Amino acid sequence: MDITKIQGFNFPCPIRFGAGASEELADYLRSNGLSRPLLVTDATVAELTFFKQIKISLERKGIRTEVFSEMHKNPVKSDVLKGGAIFHETNRDCIVGIGGGVALDVARAITLRVHHKRDLFDYDDLIGGDKYVTEEVPHFIAIPTTAGTGSEVGRSAIISEDESKKKRILFSPKLMAKIVFADPLLTMELPPFITAATGMDALTHNMEAYLAKNYHPMCDGIALEGIVLIAESLETATHKPDVASRAKMLLASLMGAVAFQKGLGVVHSLAHPLSSLLDTHHGLANAINLPYGMQFNYEGFENRFDKMGDAFGLGSAAGNRVVDHIFEMNAKLGMPTKLSEIDVTKEHIEELSKLAVADFCHPNNPKPVSKEDFKNLYQRAL
Ligand SMILES: [Fe+2]
Repeated sequence: MDITKIQGFNFPCPIRFGAGASEELADYLRSNGLSRPLLVTDATVAELTFFKQIKISLERKGIRTEVFSEMHKNPVKSDVLKGGAIFHETNRDCIVGIGGGVALDVARAITLRVHHKRDLFDYDDLIGGDKYVTEEVPHFIAIPTTAGTGSEVGRSAIISEDESKKKRILFSPKLMAKIVFADPLLTMELPPFITAATGMDALTHNMEAYLAKNYHPMCDGIALEGIVLIAESLETATHKPDVASRAKMLLASLMGAVAFQKGLGVVHSLAHPLSSLLDTHHGLANAINLPYGMQFNYEGFENRFDKMGDAFGLGSAAGNRVVDHIFEMNAKLGMPTKLSEIDVTKEHIEELSKLAVADFCHPNNPKPVSKEDFKNLYQRAL
């Protein structure tokens, strides 16, 4: 099977996948009677050639676009409100999110905002806010430009409070994209660091989902295949990208996001505080913590590690080599292997551990994780 060719499949939503898939957008909009999309992207992608080309090709087919790209690196409520206002002011009829996790989160949150007028955080899933998501939402289309978060197949958006920067989660099944155009050509120019860091985020999703304690055999199968694809392609995609390696990473990223509806674990709980406290890139934070978190999980789950070892191509009984293999992967990708390399000091550990134990991911870790465990893990990774 040539995965670089455009193919379609329907899981968990309609997906057009392959080199050039994003060129189908104009015809898709036309055939759905849509002609005034709000293109939601971040300021960096807005300046890239492929984004300008998408815009020009839509305009050529008589589709009148409006671009919204005013968003913070960690997007906040006022970004979403601004985007929602522009949707109405410019009389839009659908939303197309084009970008990485941030742009797609903002696009999805605007999709919610357009016909839901309560305070945005009344819809916070952690306080049961999805019960207020009662109105229709505009037609939402997602086009990923990185291979990491897999946000294009998600149903939630993480948006922070403007002042406190506290992260809130907006969730509703209605926020699933009506269609995803996953085009590896849009990821060809990603620089090596972003490719490696976002790729390690995707790997962390697949591994943590596979180990998560909830029962979800379908997600287990998807996660293992996600690991296979990453093992085959991340190094090439980072150092010598070709369409095949980019395509495999884009698929693995989609698969990781589907798999982690089963849950994540200790590694994401170690990573999140580094981003909130020290602004560490999410993928980088996962990359560094992944081998340490996996070392913590190994004992008692040897069979699961054997399966992951097999997926990495290490052989059928090589679970005990998985941790070392991840260290080696990080080294080959040019990722740091110690927290001290990203300016974490032992003075940070108390605060990091406090935030980590309050994080929402580790309750799904296969083993319970205490504040003391988090301290030890940070200490070991220092
Ligand atoms: Fe992640």
